[in-house]
Amino acid sequence: IQVSPFDLVVFGGTGDLAARKLLPALYHRDLAGQIPDDARIIGVSRRPLSREHYSTFVRESLDQFVKAADKNPAAIDRFVARTDYQPADAGSDEGWSELAALLAAGAERVRAFYFAVSPDLFAPISQRIRQFGLVTPQSRVVLEKPLGKNEESARAVNDAVAEVFNESQVFRIDHYLGKETVQNLMALRFANRLFEPVWNSTHIDHVQITVAEDIGVGDRGGYYDTSGAMRDMLQNHIMQLLCLTAMEPPDAFEADAVRDEKLKVLKALKRIDDRNAEQMTVRAQYRAGSVGGKSAAGYLEDLGQDQSKTETFVAIRAEIANWRWAGVPFFLRTGKRLARRTSEIVVNFRPISHNIFDQTAGHVSQNRLILRLQPDEGVTLEVTIKDPGPGGMRLRSIPLDMSFAETFGVSNPDAYERLLMDVIRGNQTLFMRADEVAAAWQWVDPIHAAWAHNDQRMHTYPAGSWGPSASVALIERDGRSWFEDAE
Ligand code: BG6
Repeated sequence: IQVSPFDLVVFGGTGDLAARKLLPALYHRDLAGQIPDDARIIGVSRRPLSREHYSTFVRESLDQFVKAADKNPAAIDRFVARTDYQPADAGSDEGWSELAALLAAGAERVRAFYFAVSPDLFAPISQRIRQFGLVTPQSRVVLEKPLGKNEESARAVNDAVAEVFNESQVFRIDHYLGKETVQNLMALRFANRLFEPVWNSTHIDHVQITVAEDIGVGDRGGYYDTSGAMRDMLQNHIMQLLCLTAMEPPDAFEADAVRDEKLKVLKALKRIDDRNAEQMTVRAQYRAGSVGGKSAAGYLEDLGQDQSKTETFVAIRAEIANWRWAGVPFFLRTGKRLARRTSEIVVNFRPISHNIFDQTAGHVSQNRLILRLQPDEGVTLEVTIKDPGPGGMRLRSIPLDMSFAETFGVSNPDAYERLLMDVIRGNQTLFMRADEVAAAWQWVDPIHAAWAHNDQRMHTYPAGSWGPSASVALIERDGRSWFEDAE
């Protein structure tokens, strides 16, 4: 089904995100027939390019980031014809009247401004948008992360944007919310009888959320070193996964109902600060090692510096202080240059209350539900069954496995495809509200403060491992162990 006609203005139109994610995602939606004929995609940046030059940029980006099977010359021509370009700079008036003239041709349409630029430009760009009268009733704005470095700077960004747009027009993107498995988590929990009755501390022993990457910081060192794993991945992506796993059922699958419930989880997180950060958190940096058989440099070498206090790995033992989750630890971890790329939520159930089988049947494993976000999206439920054959009652745990690619025979759309279309439709359910972002920082800020006050140890780990031994110790102190490490 086609969305309504729209003009999408991408600030940072010649940047990395536009090339890698936004343009390919829009092309895929176009290929699927979802983009109406007169929709326009207007790149904006400081670079003085002509429309033709921008067409070349768009073609190159599709060439590089769309897989061969999806490259259709006629569709690429059609897509490129939708794109336009206007040089403009947040720091001056130049180019803005031309942008206004371009947009005037579509005054009635949905108008989306996508800020794919550094957050210190969010305020000045918003001001220019207002100055040149570009906000229409059908306008919305998309904010890319990072949304600040702490609660205070996040509030400053949100306040600056709020001077120009109301909250119902603001779409704070966290692309993890557009991943198929993440949406499936909600389907699984709230569209099945089976899970919700056992989704609590009576039946769940603990939860693990891992977002592991095998890549290093690459050429993003400049940004990354000011951020670190906590700000780059944990404060947003992992905390959003945590919220969706732990939230109470919203009364409707509707933006504010869902976001109200997520906010309650963030507010119920037990504070980690100077008193307990040593016990509850581990931070670490990768050293040289080998990933997938290839040698990999250490973080400092990647960065080209002698020293850095930035973590490339973080593990946290979190707890949610409410009735549903009291006493259930949530182990969170993320890192660069780990053994492989894998992201998953692992829900570990408690042991059965009484075992009727004798010793010859063997050990009764605990049920486990694994939601795999990537690389191969799917859901696995580990259940105990009788080993087939006449050998008597022998128990064993097997996976009831569903791979989306195998079941549906299609690969999933990229998260940005879904989210960009939601922006055009005006659906904020999978976007973060300002108060959520603030609440996530309220939990993260005291941890950063404690690391600084206590000068908490920066552990190291070889590239290609599962992180520092301190991360293993963190979970083993609780008598549990990390899921993948066992594989
Ligand atoms: C981004 C981070 O938000 O997410 C990157 O800034 C990270 O550092 C990326 O590599 C991971 O996204 P995905 O979709 O590849 O898991």
